[in-house]
Amino acid sequence: MLSPNLFKEVQSQLPDSYKEADDQELSERAWERKRQLGKDLFIPGHHYQKDNVIQFADEIGDSLQLAQGSATNRQASFVVFCGVHFMAETADILTGDDQQVILPDLRAGCSMADMANQNQIERAWEKLIDMFGETIIPITYVNSSAEIKAFVGRYGGATVTSSNAEKILTWAFKQKKRILFLPDQHLGRNTAYRLGIPLEHMRVWDPIYEELEGDQPLDQVQMILWQGHCSVHANFRIEHIQSYRASEPDRNIIVHPECSWEVTQAADLAGSTRFIIEQVKAAPPGSKWAIGTEMNLVKRLKKQYPEQSIDSLNPEMCPCLTMNRIDLPHFVWVLDELYAGRCPNQITVDKKVADEALLAIERMLML
Ligand code: 13P
Ligand code: SF4
Repeated sequence: MLSPNLFKEVQSQLPDSYKEADDQELSERAWERKRQLGKDLFIPGHHYQKDNVIQFADEIGDSLQLAQGSATNRQASFVVFCGVHFMAETADILTGDDQQVILPDLRAGCSMADMANQNQIERAWEKLIDMFGETIIPITYVNSSAEIKAFVGRYGGATVTSSNAEKILTWAFKQKKRILFLPDQHLGRNTAYRLGIPLEHMRVWDPIYEELEGDQPLDQVQMILWQGHCSVHANFRIEHIQSYRASEPDRNIIVHPECSWEVTQAADLAGSTRFIIEQVKAAPPGSKWAIGTEMNLVKRLKKQYPEQSIDSLNPEMCPCLTMNRIDLPHFVWVLDELYAGRCPNQITVDKKVADEALLAIERMLML
């Protein structure tokens, strides 16, 4: 399902000539356009992007680094975002009015971000305030639409990424007794558990049936977890860990905190994409890893560190399909269009939404 926001944006059609061109020709053209557009062009790229696209990135990073990079680059007129829709929205919110953010393929959404929409959050909030009074602060993972971030900003909350979630939750518990965490129940649960909140003090909000799951007493509840998840990280299961533990007990198991609580608990380490990369980079030659995150990143680490043994935690894993929408043909096409003076696939967040979302993002960046 695509984010409702996408319908406001017009996807221009990729001409067939780009689909038919070979990689070599497209790469040469991309380098040429990058040179011609010079400092007018800034290309942030998420770690999950394909190799043949990420090679052109001016900044490669996890969600936090890319948000910070977008907030500081004031020079480029065009930000061609190699990542997914919610990241490009965040970049649009953080860049100046004279800067344009372009997503090479508007179909590059995120199934997790689509699991919480504005109507759902407004209805949920009303019911939750009825149940708990004014004791809740909303916190959203950056993997959410600008409307959700705006809601969170309006009610005094902040965004989090997988690399700062503990810090932001610690801050949030100083503001209110309870957190409503959107949209990834796993990052919310994993982080709160690390901070010492027992599972019995967490309940899941089902946005379809509009009810709290479980029957723990309401006065105990500290974390209200939105029932969302990443469909890519859901493919790492406890049996994959058991199988490695049985066959290769010396293999380190490292996973992203979008994996379930059971998987995260059974792994040796859990952390953001940046954390995973840092651990592998710092390990001695001969180290063995089974990595529970997106496949483009796992394959890149395998190539970059041939002296280590690196595998996916799930041997049948596929890349994130929406991240993979950003391919060389779309990327080169947008650069050609920009060079010709046109601006395709621009991401523009409504001003009121952007102002409120900025409150939530800035609270995070300040912390
Ligand atoms: P990181 O913030 O760890 O890069 O994760 C982002 C993400 O989930 C993209 O899917
Ligand atoms: Fe969304 Fe999961 Fe893909 Fe990240 S890996 S963009 S959370 S679907």
